[in-house]
Amino acid sequence: MINCISCRNVLTFNPPSEINILHSMKTKQKYIVTSALTYANGYTHLGHIAGSLLPADIYVRYRRLNGDDIIYVCGSDEYGTAIEMSAIKEGVSPTEIINKYHEANKKSYADLGISFDIYSRTSNPSHTETAREFFKVLYDKGILYEKTDQQLFSEKENRFLADRFIEGTCPVCGYEEARGDQCENCGSSLSPLQLINPKSKISGDTPVIKDSKQLYFPLSKYQDDLNQWLSAKKNWKPNVINYCKGWFKTGLQDRAVTRDLDWGIKVPIDKYKDKVIYVWIEAPVGYISATKDLFTERGEPDKWKEYWQQPDTKLIHFLGKDNVIFHAIIFPAMLMAHGDYVLVDNIPANEFLNMGGEKFSKSKGIGSVVKDVLKVYEPDIIRYAIASNMPENKDTEFNWEDVVNKNNNELAAILGNFVNRVVVFTKSKFDNVVPAKHHETQNEIFDEIKKAADLISSHFEKFRFKDALTETMNCARMANKYFNDNEPWNLIKNNQDKCAGVLNNCIQIIHSLGILFSPFIPFTSDKILNVLNKDMSVFTWDKIGEEVLKSGHRLGENHILFPQLELPKQTESAEQNQLITIDEFSKVKLKTAKVLSCEAVPKSKKLYKLKLKSGNIEKQIVSGIAEHYSPEDLIGKIVVIVDNLKSAKLMGIESQGMLLAAKNGSSLKIITVDGGMTDGANVS
Ligand code: MF3
Ligand code: ZN
Repeated sequence: MINCISCRNVLTFNPPSEINILHSMKTKQKYIVTSALTYANGYTHLGHIAGSLLPADIYVRYRRLNGDDIIYVCGSDEYGTAIEMSAIKEGVSPTEIINKYHEANKKSYADLGISFDIYSRTSNPSHTETAREFFKVLYDKGILYEKTDQQLFSEKENRFLADRFIEGTCPVCGYEEARGDQCENCGSSLSPLQLINPKSKISGDTPVIKDSKQLYFPLSKYQDDLNQWLSAKKNWKPNVINYCKGWFKTGLQDRAVTRDLDWGIKVPIDKYKDKVIYVWIEAPVGYISATKDLFTERGEPDKWKEYWQQPDTKLIHFLGKDNVIFHAIIFPAMLMAHGDYVLVDNIPANEFLNMGGEKFSKSKGIGSVVKDVLKVYEPDIIRYAIASNMPENKDTEFNWEDVVNKNNNELAAILGNFVNRVVVFTKSKFDNVVPAKHHETQNEIFDEIKKAADLISSHFEKFRFKDALTETMNCARMANKYFNDNEPWNLIKNNQDKCAGVLNNCIQIIHSLGILFSPFIPFTSDKILNVLNKDMSVFTWDKIGEEVLKSGHRLGENHILFPQLELPKQTESAEQNQLITIDEFSKVKLKTAKVLSCEAVPKSKKLYKLKLKSGNIEKQIVSGIAEHYSPEDLIGKIVVIVDNLKSAKLMGIESQGMLLAAKNGSSLKIITVDGGMTDGANVS
């Protein structure tokens, strides 16, 4: 351990000699902000935006307004089985997949105004080099150890099956499409050998168990250090800290850091050169590689060190809750082991943004692809709607009605209205020129706005973006009130000079609003600058509540900032609205059935085992409705079942069909048929 020779703080890593360890001499706080690298295997969707992109962008824009020394890095995550899987599905090579989606996602982010300093990619040679070097340091330090593992091997495909290439029944909740690494239904983290009835997702083959040597990272040894380090994090979100505490309680497990795959970064050690580095080990190193790429682009190839190897740089990772373990536990442990880099300062992780009750998920085809959404709505409207509904502390619901309402009732009715009425008035009564100030027009309004800006700052500092936005919109409300209270339409008739003073103030307020809103709706702030006929040089946080526009300055053209919107008929991408023919529908045989018995499935919170009678046939169905009904509610009911569903096992219990139910968010109602219908009837 080394201490800063000035402030005596312990430096958590060994600084290379070229870095001055007198860190208190630095003047400006340095920040590295990251958004979780996006898998380049599909189009980015609103779930990504709400989870890790938009909050980071808002934060970075706010910090830049403050003149902080901040870099914002992100990029495409291009290795790993998620990519290979998509390549197989689309029938093309992994390289084609990553090229297609990297470019598409990069464009979507730009169109949405996400202001990265760099959007890099892990297939860049610079990343390969950085990741291999990182890995080699861990190996050379003797930190990694070898262990023989049992893994699933497909004899038909003649290869080991990566976790994600395996599907089977979740041993925890009985979900049948659980992946080898995780159950998407109950969130349990799994290993492929735990799956009941595992199958290859590629060929459907039932794999065999085979030995394989892998290198392991001794995560368990880092538990105490991690725990101590995290205990000192007083300003982290409680949900993030609680996740970590939960993992400590179960005890951290050592992790395999190599894989028997082709698609990935080759392990830089001869003995293991046929293996690749596990994607979750190399991808976070991508933040470092991206920073190197950034400064190489800027012609200062060594400058990345001033961020990553400077002990008081604040590294902030924005991400969704499913990525917390990698950024709060595994990556920091790797960085501790490596020793040369700064550790994360905060992880303001978000929960999920849900649409129609289900997690946005590319793999299930639910959700809304950004590039399609942007064909329907202006980027700022999407940004505003998501920011005001950000899943900061709990999952939130997203719907298009809300987007339209927020545009019409907030953006247009409050902010747009103020700008428009002031500019229209100035044009008609003062020749579109900032009118003269007046000694009688009180300036308390500027003090109020400055006070609000301080409050908004404190929300940003605490990553409370929803509160920051509410207060920002309150400033626009305040502005409208100022206009109304002063009644310029009356003043112009009997005190033209005072009216001029009021309008002068209002124009200064528009400028302040432009700054205040710019982290959230930057395109609108640009339009405001155009309306004011000003450039970015007057856009800094300390100019809020200041009188920036001189009287006599000519304004630009007026623009309606937020035209009224109507609910579009179709906002989902075509994929989600795929139509089927009557023939396709008639393949599904629906029948009525009477519930004869119902009992809870042991060790499952969600599942019931039901016995049903449909005509002459008796069936057993396992259904995930236990949280919504008690067995007595169900016995004797005539329900609707899918009669010709292939039987499947849920938690080891055979299920010979499916019960129909309506589901919305957390509410669920099974479909029942009243009025004396018998069991065994056809439903069509
Ligand atoms: N691609 C991952 C995901 O979408 C996130 C990777 S973050 C990184 O879940 F740190 F590993 F890069
Ligand atoms: Zn599960």
